[in-house]
Amino acid sequence: MNVTLTSILSHPIAQKYVKRAGLAHAVACAYHAFEIALERNVDPELACKAAFLHDIGHYTWYKNGKWDYSLYKENDIHAIKGAERAHKLLIRLGEDPVIAKEIALAVLLHTDSYIPGQLITRTPLQDVVARADEVDEEPGGNHHYRMISDERAHKMLAKLDERILLFHKKSEKQLS
Ligand SMILES: [Fe+2]
Repeated sequence: MNVTLTSILSHPIAQKYVKRAGLAHAVACAYHAFEIALERNVDPELACKAAFLHDIGHYTWYKNGKWDYSLYKENDIHAIKGAERAHKLLIRLGEDPVIAKEIALAVLLHTDSYIPGQLITRTPLQDVVARADEVDEEPGGNHHYRMISDERAHKMLAKLDERILLFHKKSEKQLS
């Protein structure tokens, strides 16, 4: 594994933008993605990284100091912006470009809200990420406001990094 979840968390781009959309939601989605990926034979490393980064493209839609939900609904392109932001962050951290592209695409397609006609056919990885997001969603977008301390987020992601490494070790053993 070139890049760990904890190193992603520590990067200033993630510190600014993952936190803007909700760090607790991002960590929870990474955990859901791990479980769903295992159920569906998808690489949990890619699923967890994409799920952790899926909302990194969020912009703040404020009007007169208040969040304007209709403005957001009409103009939001967070998945497009997020795909590019996630890709840039991963490449800067030294991620394998093939993996960085897969993750960027999973971020791009985790929602179809910005696509006219909403027609998406997802790959298994992309579907795991979309599903992980759905599982953690709360009515009225409340999942974006749940809180978690940096310390706890770091601990939880370190645990997930360990699980991913263990998964890789086991799959290597099975192959040899
Ligand atoms: Fe989300």
